[in-house]
Amino acid sequence: MKTKSLLLTAALALAAIAPAATAQTNRTDKVETKEQRDARMAWWREAKFGMFIHWGVYSVPAGFYHDKPVPGIGEWIMNRGKIPMAEYQAFAKQFNPVKFDADAWVKTASDAGMKYIVITSKHHDGFAMFETQASPWNIVQATPYGKDPLKDLAAACRKYGIKLGFYYSQAQDWNNGGAAAGGKWDPAQKHDMDDYIDKIAVPQVKEILSNYGEFPAVLWWDTPHDMNYARAKKLYDAVQQLRPDIIMNNRLGGGFKGDTETPEQKIPAKGFPGRDWETCMTLNNTWGFKRDDNNWKSTATLIHNLCDIASKGGNYLLNVGPTSEGLIPAPSIERLAEVGAWMKVNGEAIYGTTATPFGSELGAAVKAKDGYGHDTTVSSGNDWRCTTKPGKIYPMIFNWPTTGKFELPGLQSKVTKAYLLADHKDLTFTQTDAGVTLDLPAEAPDKIASVICVEIADDTAKVAPQK
Ligand code: GLC
Repeated sequence: MKTKSLLLTAALALAAIAPAATAQTNRTDKVETKEQRDARMAWWREAKFGMFIHWGVYSVPAGFYHDKPVPGIGEWIMNRGKIPMAEYQAFAKQFNPVKFDADAWVKTASDAGMKYIVITSKHHDGFAMFETQASPWNIVQATPYGKDPLKDLAAACRKYGIKLGFYYSQAQDWNNGGAAAGGKWDPAQKHDMDDYIDKIAVPQVKEILSNYGEFPAVLWWDTPHDMNYARAKKLYDAVQQLRPDIIMNNRLGGGFKGDTETPEQKIPAKGFPGRDWETCMTLNNTWGFKRDDNNWKSTATLIHNLCDIASKGGNYLLNVGPTSEGLIPAPSIERLAEVGAWMKVNGEAIYGTTATPFGSELGAAVKAKDGYGHDTTVSSGNDWRCTTKPGKIYPMIFNWPTTGKFELPGLQSKVTKAYLLADHKDLTFTQTDAGVTLDLPAEAPDKIASVICVEIADDTAKVAPQK
């Protein structure tokens, strides 16, 4: 009897801690069950495609210092050009974005098929693009513009049903005494890091979490230079206290894993199985506006990237760098409109989908360079990509077959119906033990990526492993 009740007690005790076993148990991260996490991540997993906006004082020099181009990404100009604080701060007097139209920006994102926006509330130059009591180095007090553009963006996002997130450079801050990658270059920057965390970073994070209604939905940290557990924990606690349901990326530092992996300027060959992830990428070479950067990606590249990322289970956060007048560069707007036209027809294959049930179409992981010239790996297969949602699979074909046939390698689930998203007309097909072959029209309906919806009798596609 005694043993029995002891066993029972032990079993009950085990049952009580069971949820914790499936939750994230890292002491520095949220402890929650899989169900809680799924609920918290649901809108973001549905969204798949977002707009990154890098906007700040760096759009004034726009890549040039004393009439000379400063190499590298535009928002780093103060650091790369070793510009003294006083000189850099003078740029704010020319920052007067009178052409800024929050409604137009959000409409551009929405028309592109994007479902969320993440904007730099403060980048490494420490300039707050919002009203803040913590430092006079902000758009309301230091510029002739004198208004908080994030307020307008929040209102426009509300109108268009777009989620708004804030990027916040928590560690590097070259004007308020935070860290500086590569070391400081102006004696005026000398400052205690903990004092900066307490007097600037924590109060400002509280402000951006409190002053924009239901937003931000995402907090996007960056470059955790000189972060340690104690510093990161102060920021993390402020967030949990004010907005426990927010989605944070993995760049806080101090050992915090966050919710999302953030590969930058690259699409990993295999994605991050078991982790939420988001590739952030520029439309040209820079995040913040540079007037001489015209290296725009083609619309085909953007659509292929979106398909590639979705087929590996990730999100695509695509950047625009508006000018100091408040305009998104025209080449960005043109390309986003073209992506939007594709999404209008084919978005069903992107939103709310998960990674390919096949995988053989990705080919091998081959060595490549990312947008910064660093080593990475990409998928060698370039003919097609695929996504899925319950009862459906979506082959997205880049290279239209000249044979009039398209094979779904090893698909075992019974196909009940197949059609192009472009016209919804039934396609004929043959199904054998080896897989399914679809009969295609001679011409691709879309030169960049034509999408087929294949309806299957199973919720999750059964696929025989391919060699
Ligand atoms: C970085 C850079 C940066 C940019 C960003 C976007 O690591 O420091 O300027 O904001 O990542 O991912």
